[in-house]
This record gives sequence, structure tokens and C-alpha cells, in this order.
Amino acid sequence: MPNKSEYPSICLMNCNDSWNLSFSEKLFLQIAEIMASDGWKDVGYEYICIDDCWMAPERDSKGRLQADPKRFPGGIRHLANYVHSKGLKLGIYADVGNKTCAGFPGSFGYYDIDAQTFADWGVDLLKFDGCYCDSIQHLAEGYKQMSLALNRTGRSIVYSCEWPLYMWPIFKPNYTEIREYCNHWRNFADIYDSWQSIRNTLDWTSSNQKIIVPVAGPGGWNDPDMLVIGNFGLSRDQQITQMALWAIMAAPLLMSNDLRHISPEAKALLQDKDVIAINQDRLGKQGYRLRKENNFEVWERPLLNLAWAVAIVNLQEIGGPRSYTISVTSLGRGLACNPDCLITELLPEKRKLGFYEWTSSLKTQINPTGTVLLRLERTSSVQFSYSAVSDSL
Ligand code: GLA
Repeated sequence: MPNKSEYPSICLMNCNDSWNLSFSEKLFLQIAEIMASDGWKDVGYEYICIDDCWMAPERDSKGRLQADPKRFPGGIRHLANYVHSKGLKLGIYADVGNKTCAGFPGSFGYYDIDAQTFADWGVDLLKFDGCYCDSIQHLAEGYKQMSLALNRTGRSIVYSCEWPLYMWPIFKPNYTEIREYCNHWRNFADIYDSWQSIRNTLDWTSSNQKIIVPVAGPGGWNDPDMLVIGNFGLSRDQQITQMALWAIMAAPLLMSNDLRHISPEAKALLQDKDVIAINQDRLGKQGYRLRKENNFEVWERPLLNLAWAVAIVNLQEIGGPRSYTISVTSLGRGLACNPDCLITELLPEKRKLGFYEWTSSLKTQINPTGTVLLRLERTSSVQFSYSAVSDSL
């Protein structure tokens, strides 16, 4: 399997505009240009991904997938060349079953041909969906076969799966196996541009954290779906919550938005280097929900060099900002601030909160549906083995 650690990426999809063909080669060329020139590439957004609806309705005479000639008149290879010339990478979408979710040709029975076609075009990432698969055996076999087929091409292609999402209704996925074949995998329903959808995703993740958190690590990550920051449905505080929690969850950062029309606030949030650094932390451990009480949630994530990220979410939608006080001994398995630590607030404001001793408390004030994201750094090095800490999750 392609063995990659994680990169932030951007994904675009829109099938609903067949009248004006705005989902087209032209759009991808424009977005690639913006990604390269507007700071996105500099902070790590590297992939530009085509989602469903890029295909022509039929395969060619040799059984190969082909791009819709109206939407992509220059073909995918041409687009890949342009994207590469900007120092970026190209992602594409296909489906393990008989059809894609939007009804375009599926890859069932064509795994090797399709993998080779993508490699020939210079594709760097494949999102492989799970619609229209007639049995759970075909689903599992198909995901494995496509992984092996991609490897056989000799091209390094990130393999993004939806295998567990389609598995869950039938039985509990075998994450050890999924991790062997996929670089990231969707577990839960499609994200919508709404606070309810963000909440559902967080609830699902925390309810299943014992199963999904231990399997995440370099080369394979849980994918809670795209960032919808910069769209229409989330308030400023809710956008902060999504960014902070996607960092805690070590999620692939896949933006689903229109970079041509994005507010300076949303852009600054998505390009926040300190938050991206938590998302991409090289220790490669996914965070988890530590506590839920009184409509607050505390999440934490271990970071390199014994540092920790902590996110405190105020889920209460009624009233104004509420304060939450936490004793620092309870953070980072009791070790984050032992004997003391430096705490920096990253979101919503960037500011040093100062030194905290092991026995001290930290008081925060959090807007409704907002989050305070903190970074805790130990000030003195205490000798202990990190794995002794993390294994108790
Ligand atoms: C499924 C996937 C989505 C998107 C659509 C496209 O619903 O889960 O992420 O790719 O298909 O049709």
C-alpha cells in the first residue's frame, strides 16, 4: 500500500450544476492557481481533489474510465500536469462497486485497469467510495484489491477509503486490516455545512474512540470528513470548533469550500500554522475526549516532546459565554503540567497564558458552541517513557 503520513488536502465536489458546468477543468485550474499563490500551499495544503461526477457516463473501447469531455476537455492528465507544475498534487474519485454514488461507472471488475489509468494520468490520491456494492465480501475484497492494484502501478498514490463507513451497518469493521490497506478511511456519514453535522461527527467519534483512536498513526488515519469552514452554515465560533477538533482528531484536513470567495477570517483560521502544527504533529497520535460534564467537553491530544493539545468545547447553545475551570493535574494523564507547564491559547485568540504549576487551575471563558484550544508545554524534562502513558487510553 502507499505508505504516506498525513498531509492537509483540499477537495472539491459539485454535481448539481450540470447547466453551467462550473464543476470543470477551468475551476480546478483556477483553484490550483489560488492554492499555490495565496498561501495555502505554504502552510501545507498540497492536494487538490476531484470528487464524484468527473467521469463520462461510459468507459472507452478499451474499458478505461474517461473524463466527461464537456467538463474536462483537456483530460485528467492535462489537469495533473498543470497541478504538478504548481507544486501541488492531484486527487481523483472512484467507487469500489458497480456505480459511483452519483451514478457514474464503478470500478468493480476493473480495479487493475482503473489503478493503471490513474497512475498513467499522474494522479496522486484516490478517494474510493463504497456505493452500489452488492455484498460485504465484494466490498472488503474490492477495497483490498484496489489497494494492491495501486501498489502494482509503482506510483505513490494516497488511498482514501470509505470501507468502514459502509461496513458499520452490517458489522464492526476490522480496523487493523483496514489500516493495512488504506491511508485514511471514513467512518461516519457525510458532513454537512451545519453545526448539527459537526456535533454528530464529534459524538460519533467520542462514542467510538476506544475502537478508532488506537489504530490511527503515520500512514493511516481516521477521516471525519471535510472541513466546511468558509461556507455558509457555521458561525465563527463553530468554525473554530471544527478547526480545533479536527486538529485534535489528527484528521486529514480536506477543505470543501470555494477558495475564490472566502472571508479573511475563514482563510486565517484554515491557514493557522499553530493549529495545523497540532493536526500534523509528528508523534502521530490521535486525541480523544477526556471528559464531558455540564455541557462542556474536554478533548486532549499527546504531542511530540511531551507537549499536549487541549480543546474545551462549550456545547450549550442557550445564553452567553460560560466559564470553565480545569485543574491542570487532570490533563495529559496527569503529566502535562508536572511539575509545571507553559500554556498558550491558540484559538480563539493567540496568547500566552503563562506558567501553571501542577496543583493550579486554569479558568477559561467559552462562547456558545465555541472552543478554546490550548497548547501545553512542559517546562522541565521529567524522565519517563511516553508509551507508558499513551497505552492506557
Ligand atoms: C458519498 C461520499 C461523499 C461524496 C459523495 C459523492 O456520499 O461519502 O463524500 O464523495 O458520495 O457522490
